[in-house]
Amino acid sequence: MSSQQLRKEIERRRTFAIISHPDAGKTTLTEKLLLYAGMIRTAGMVHARKTQSHTSSDWMKMEQERGISITASAMQFEYKDVIINVLDTPGHQDFSEDTYRTLTAADCAVMVIDAASGVENQTRKLFQVCRMRGIPILTFINKMDLPGREPLDLITEVEEVLGIQASPLHWPVGSGEDFVGVVELATNEVLVFEPAAQKGSKPVEVRRVPIKEALEGDVIPDHIKSKFEEDLELIREAGNPFDYDLFLAGELTPVFFGSALTNFGVEPFFDSFAELAPMPRPREATDAGGEAIKVMPDDETFSAFVFKVQANMDLRHRDSMAYLRVCSGRFQRDISVKNSRMDKPVRLSRSHNMFGGERTTLEVAYPGDIVGVVNPGAFVIGDSISEKGEIEFKPLPKFPPEVVARLRPKDVMKRKAFEKGMKQFRAEGAVLILDAYKQPQSEPLVAAVGPLQFEVLKFRLETEYNVTTEMEILPYTRGAWLIGDPEKFQTPSSVLLAVDATDQVIMLYTRDWERNHALELNDDSYQLKDFIE
Ligand code: G4P
Repeated sequence: MSSQQLRKEIERRRTFAIISHPDAGKTTLTEKLLLYAGMIRTAGMVHARKTQSHTSSDWMKMEQERGISITASAMQFEYKDVIINVLDTPGHQDFSEDTYRTLTAADCAVMVIDAASGVENQTRKLFQVCRMRGIPILTFINKMDLPGREPLDLITEVEEVLGIQASPLHWPVGSGEDFVGVVELATNEVLVFEPAAQKGSKPVEVRRVPIKEALEGDVIPDHIKSKFEEDLELIREAGNPFDYDLFLAGELTPVFFGSALTNFGVEPFFDSFAELAPMPRPREATDAGGEAIKVMPDDETFSAFVFKVQANMDLRHRDSMAYLRVCSGRFQRDISVKNSRMDKPVRLSRSHNMFGGERTTLEVAYPGDIVGVVNPGAFVIGDSISEKGEIEFKPLPKFPPEVVARLRPKDVMKRKAFEKGMKQFRAEGAVLILDAYKQPQSEPLVAAVGPLQFEVLKFRLETEYNVTTEMEILPYTRGAWLIGDPEKFQTPSSVLLAVDATDQVIMLYTRDWERNHALELNDDSYQLKDFIE
């Protein structure tokens, strides 16, 4: 393949993740993206099926219903002229380290905010990871068809709570029942949405009307006209102008308004997304000599990193899948690669997509794409893969756990198998396995972002190592990584210091005051961090 062809493939790709709090509308918006991309003819099935079963992810349901190709970690399809890779960011009870890690595989993020709730907790946490990694963010304020908060209020909240400049590119005309359109601020046109009989299941018609005409005519309900004009004036005078470089640097977010349910504002948002979202970007790494380098997507040699490993997903295939994000070059099935941790080359012959619940073979992939490979025990989360094995991508960040437990085998005779399993899980990085600081002989602690990870761990110990375990849930619900010498670090008696596999110390605690108090007890050189880059 010529380098020109490779560049063409790269330029078409948009790889992103949706960050939101549960119920803000992530699944509905994803489904509408499929609707507007022509991948499905009618929307609304996700919702219908959601109420029936909670056993598989929403995506799996979409896949079974629609036959859409999903790697269980990403979905790929064409939207107008671009190729979209949407990464799955599990929420609800599936919220876990994987959700955070997935963001490292994205080139940008869409932040969905419920207009009635504003910036919520999970959005804030996911936002922090994007910020840390300099990932550009587009904001979609959803549920404008319902009574919500004032748009100006929401803009202020995004800026104050998240510390990012917000620049509306669209401005809503009305809200709740009066939500009839959005103003495209760059063109001064109102995009008027024509309500459809089949609410939201089909695309809506959009009519463009110059704003002057819209204000004079009957497009905008009379009782909201003056308020609308006032707000618009204010946003024009005091709002942040859009700056593409600040957006790319993750310092400014363009803001859009709409309703994923009724489709109002959805297509104009997707169109802007296709235009603004960056193509696959260079990635920070080190070379064989440990020198910092940037891996350019159009480097012709293939490179990728593992951002997720999923074991025993499917009982018919009792193995694990490693998910690779392609960073440069062209992936071709059967390619021989090296993991930077190992000398031996690995042939990637079993590369997959999922299709209608069945794995289908994936032959080629380009930067930005996600490839699922059957993991012959060769890959763990965070591994760097390249043709010669000389590239090492920037390590994945560390996250704050929210559940902590002590784990022990029920049968003491199984101690050896238990330790073997824990060693393997520690290497995989699927859950955080910790030792209480300066008490390495005590039973290990397991810490995770969501309790589901514990279930997976227990299940795997049972099925793969034949060890039944007992789990004692500890009271800690927060974790902060300690920067500074732990030896002299003073803590309130209610917190626990623990060490991870790389000897990084984490303080486990429950309440804000414990964290503040710990900082007060020590000199200013110490820091406690939620995330470590
Ligand atoms: P999530 O993936 O972010 O968790 O949210 P999801 O899309 O599942 O949406 C959560 C609920 O909000 C759904 O209602 C969905 O129909 C509704 N919703 C999403 N976008 C909009 C919108 O723009 N306007 C309105 N009015 N509702 C929206 P649900 O399935 O009825 O949830 P439930 O009540 O059955 O739990």
